[in-house]
Amino acid sequence: MKMFTEEAIKRFRDPKNTGELKSCNAAASAGDPECSDVIKIFIRLKDDKVEDAKFQVFGCPSATATADVFIDMIKGKAVAEALRITQKDISDALGGMPIEQLHCSSLPIEAFRKAVGSCKR
Ligand code: FES
Repeated sequence: MKMFTEEAIKRFRDPKNTGELKSCNAAASAGDPECSDVIKIFIRLKDDKVEDAKFQVFGCPSATATADVFIDMIKGKAVAEALRITQKDISDALGGMPIEQLHCSSLPIEAFRKAVGSCKR
């Protein structure tokens, strides 16, 4: 059974992208009804790029670690490129994840997609 990597543990214990982004131009939440975990993502888009982003989480260690690395992955990227990030990409960025926890990485992806969809650009 795959265990959490040092990178995942570091991001859970000391996430650097948490909080509310005051100057965001969109925000959205995604939740998992099975476990009741929720992630909210704040984004600031400019010229079709993700200029900045942050997240808040009420959830498990995997939700925190995957959201934190996801925010790093989308910052500075073209929106279209950021929208193509998959659960596998997130897992790879963490050095792998236990298969049982892979579903947690769907929350930041879903919240980001909703935020982009609601953003008036
Ligand atoms: Fe619910 Fe991880 S167990 S998001």
